[in-house]
Amino acid sequence: MGSMSDESTNNGLSVPGETRGKVINCKAAVVYGPEEPLVIEEVQVAPPQKMEVRIKILYTSICHTDLSAWIGENENQRVYPRILGHEAAGIVESVGEGVVDMKEGDHVIPIFNGECGDCVYCKSEKTNLCGKYRVNPMKSVMDIDGKPRFSTPDGKPIYHFLSTSTFSEYTVLDSACVVKIDSKAPLKKMSLLSCGVSTGVGAVWNTANVHSGASVAIFGLGAVGLAAAAGAKSRGATRIIGVDINKDKFIKGKAMGMTEFINPKDLNRPVHEEIKELTDGGVHYTFECSGNLDVLREAFLSTHDGWGLTVILGIHPTPRMLPIHPMELFDGRKIVGSVFGDFKGKTQLPHFAEECMRGVVNLDEFITHELPFSKINEAFQLLIDGKSLRCVLQL
Ligand code: APR
Ligand code: ZN
Ligand code: ZN
Repeated sequence: MGSMSDESTNNGLSVPGETRGKVINCKAAVVYGPEEPLVIEEVQVAPPQKMEVRIKILYTSICHTDLSAWIGENENQRVYPRILGHEAAGIVESVGEGVVDMKEGDHVIPIFNGECGDCVYCKSEKTNLCGKYRVNPMKSVMDIDGKPRFSTPDGKPIYHFLSTSTFSEYTVLDSACVVKIDSKAPLKKMSLLSCGVSTGVGAVWNTANVHSGASVAIFGLGAVGLAAAAGAKSRGATRIIGVDINKDKFIKGKAMGMTEFINPKDLNRPVHEEIKELTDGGVHYTFECSGNLDVLREAFLSTHDGWGLTVILGIHPTPRMLPIHPMELFDGRKIVGSVFGDFKGKTQLPHFAEECMRGVVNLDEFITHELPFSKINEAFQLLIDGKSLRCVLQL
């Protein structure tokens, strides 16, 4: 990894403390309806309330989940006007009453899957889901008063998304959803740890605990799938098979450690039959990173019977149920979901950030494009067209 300080340390906050306790007027990208272009406009951001933090976003990028929300794939989540975005990095502008683990000027990354640290889930080693702040796509207001912190200049509410809403120069989050990282960590790259890279690498390290010498197949080679590949490589997996219908993804896949590629469009039989033949009965682990339910079945059948494990990372907006018969589980294949790579955000991400700074995962590979915030609609199009992994927007 290159220079550790590709940004200055006090970036953005011209006079620290100047805006504390006041409403901030700034630019945000607002969505008014399904697939309507995002509108960059002036919004008001209220000060953080009890146990909340207001942060200045410096970098944000677009993940497939933002795309799904923008398209409005799940009708229950059609809340407008709304500020999307959940992959970002920034600095603390001010903190609300009771916040003691962060202060103005701290370098932070938002997490959509929060960690309060106090509940029965947070105290358990078995899960990274928090009783109160776990990922919740339905949540659009702050808990304490049931109101959003964003509004139009004439006072109409603008709603939150995934407890983060990072497509804004300033945003307010529950302190449980903000992770303080080393002030020397380069924030542009660190923004990737906010979702995609942590989700993919963590699924391999924490959820599956992939062993050295393992065989792995990854379905869907976006940032999440490629992060899973990077995680598998770092664990010493010897076969890493990438599956994607977009052949352009294979070039990047190779750089991330993939050993073989399958384009389902080139086959005249199901992918799992191909993988079984290639690997003498199936791979140890498969990772579903495309968000497609039919792909999930292929991933499940591509593992070896007796011990195969399939990890679901992709968000499935469809109302359809799992396409697996209960008796198929008697063949000894397991299937499990992984939220945020099973990382406990506040307690484990700072260490993961340090590992990334040491080069355990090469974050540069994931940033395929960079644009100013004003070009956010172009950045959406790059993801839709399958041309970008992550297009980092600078605010
Ligand atoms: N078979 C194989 N690959 C597929 C298929 C399919 N039928 N359909 C789509 N893909 C591939 C796409 O070509 C793309 O390369 O899946 C990849 C998805 O990548 P991105 O759109 O870049 O998504 P990413 O941000 O990596 O997120 C992946 O994780 O967080 C969730 O909601 C997110 O479901 C999404 C998944
Ligand atoms: Zn995401
Ligand atoms: Zn908790």
